[in-house]
Amino acid sequence: MEIILDVTDLHIEFHDHDQPEVAVEDFDLMLGKGEIVGIVGESGSGKSMSALAIAGLLNRKSLTKSGRIMFDGQDLLTCDRKTLRSYQGDEISIIFQEPMTSLNPVKRIGWQVEEPLYIHHPEIDRKARKEMAIAALLSVGLENAVDVYYMYPHELSGGMRQRVMIAAAMIGNPKILIADEPTTALDVTVQAQIVELLKKLNRERGTSIIFISHDLSLVNQLCQRVIVMQQGNIVESGRTSEVFKRPRNPYTKKLIAAIPKIDLSRNEE
Ligand SMILES: Nc1ncnc2c1ncn2[C@@H]1O[C@H](COP(=O)(O)OP(=O)(O)O)[C@@H](O)[C@H]1O
Ligand SMILES: [Mg+2]
Repeated sequence: MEIILDVTDLHIEFHDHDQPEVAVEDFDLMLGKGEIVGIVGESGSGKSMSALAIAGLLNRKSLTKSGRIMFDGQDLLTCDRKTLRSYQGDEISIIFQEPMTSLNPVKRIGWQVEEPLYIHHPEIDRKARKEMAIAALLSVGLENAVDVYYMYPHELSGGMRQRVMIAAAMIGNPKILIADEPTTALDVTVQAQIVELLKKLNRERGTSIIFISHDLSLVNQLCQRVIVMQQGNIVESGRTSEVFKRPRNPYTKKLIAAIPKIDLSRNEE
């Protein structure tokens, strides 16, 4: 399998207080083309910090990062701002838990889906951009895409808003989609639909996905490989079916023991 992202020894530390606080330590991740990798772990274990670093969105002064994040022959930790920006939202996209906070309440949906194209592909004219936005809305299962195009975020349900975010994240046809707890704010049926949508996009376009969740049964349904984090460290990783059948780490065992049995039988392929 072609490796498109290779993270080694990622270390992230905060310096807001007298003592530095380590958020992520020795984080490694190799992501293959078309692969879906899950990251699980309790709240505060370093999942989001790792994801934000990969997305190039951790740039606070009070924070130090070390290690390597190799993508497209570049180290995203050391490359210049311009190179990094050229990837963000185009080659590497990220979606978050609460789409309402990522969407601008006073801008129409259509514009928000088009914006990454406007930024990264100014050569595409307005009319073509609109067509691409409507196609993107259709591709995430919003059948009334033309109506949705003209709506504002508050006119949509939570599930529809998350679909809109996915449409915006996918419009540039990224090589990597990072989904940080994308279903946590949604009810169970809608969660399952979003997971199905991510599966479909992965299958149809070969997009590699990093799926972050504290819901192990969703990770089990979606991800070929899984990384388990605890207190900033990777405590276990491997093929999802293996890790779930024979967890070695006590923390992983505890997490798995908490999943209803019926959910575990679903990753059989
Ligand atoms: N602004 C901050 N200042 C200091 N520490 C932080 C800050 N934000 C997050 N952290 C620390 O980073 C660690 C990892 O956080 P995070 O990656 O958000 O966890 P997760 O996404 O797994 O819930 C946490 O232990 C948290 O205390
Ligand atoms: Mg988080």
